[in-house]
Amino acid sequence: MARPTVIAGNWKLNPPREQGEALYRDVVVGISERSLPANVQVAIFPPAPYLGGWAGSSGDLIVGAQDVASESWGAFTGALGAELLRGFGVTHVLIGHSERRHHFGDTDATCRAKLEAARAAGLIPVLCVGETEPERDAGETFDIIRRQLDGALEAQSVAEPLVIAYEPVWAIGTGKTATPEMAAEAHRYLRHSLREKWNAEFADATPILYGGSVKPSNAATLLGDADIDGALIGGASLDAESFLSILDAAIPR
Ligand code: PGA
Repeated sequence: MARPTVIAGNWKLNPPREQGEALYRDVVVGISERSLPANVQVAIFPPAPYLGGWAGSSGDLIVGAQDVASESWGAFTGALGAELLRGFGVTHVLIGHSERRHHFGDTDATCRAKLEAARAAGLIPVLCVGETEPERDAGETFDIIRRQLDGALEAQSVAEPLVIAYEPVWAIGTGKTATPEMAAEAHRYLRHSLREKWNAEFADATPILYGGSVKPSNAATLLGDADIDGALIGGASLDAESFLSILDAAIPR
């Protein structure tokens, strides 16, 4: 099965309501003005308050959540359950973003529990993995991303859809982008790991996105690699024009 190309905006804790609504409108209009090939998907991951109004009613635009609780229902103040999200039309969820790992203490075990909750509710998980700068400097990149993959995906089966985002931590929000060679090497390693742990079909069907200072000026080069199946975009997704021009780099002419 051919895997799709996915262009996804991670809005993080941005922007304020009026700007968020304008950004959303501009993105929806931008998508409708392009004829999206069937194998190109566009997603946004806005802060939770936006989800209810947009998820499930945004046409071709996928609206996802930035995190999910490992618990389904009950006395868990502040938690966002997978089934609840699903009920509001959310289809995708980021899991293990480095900001969740570093600021909120998400571990591989937490990611695994969240992944299982997401999967049980029928949400498609976007598992984020990536090394820090000291880890890269120490030559540990592959070990780290493999540990993150193995730790979170213990219960993954080939029948369940998955998206992976490789996001080197040192490239997130820093303006430093991994070179296309660095990104491609990590993507190939991840794909090899999927093949080894599951099978070739699953590895071929799983989109692996690159994230970390993706912008219009570097998108085409990154997306030109056969193993880079899209982008998870932070800063540049907060401006409709730059987000859409990254999308244009993913649309074959
Ligand atoms: P950035 O963020 O594009 O601002 O580097 C990417 C991300 O955190 O997903």
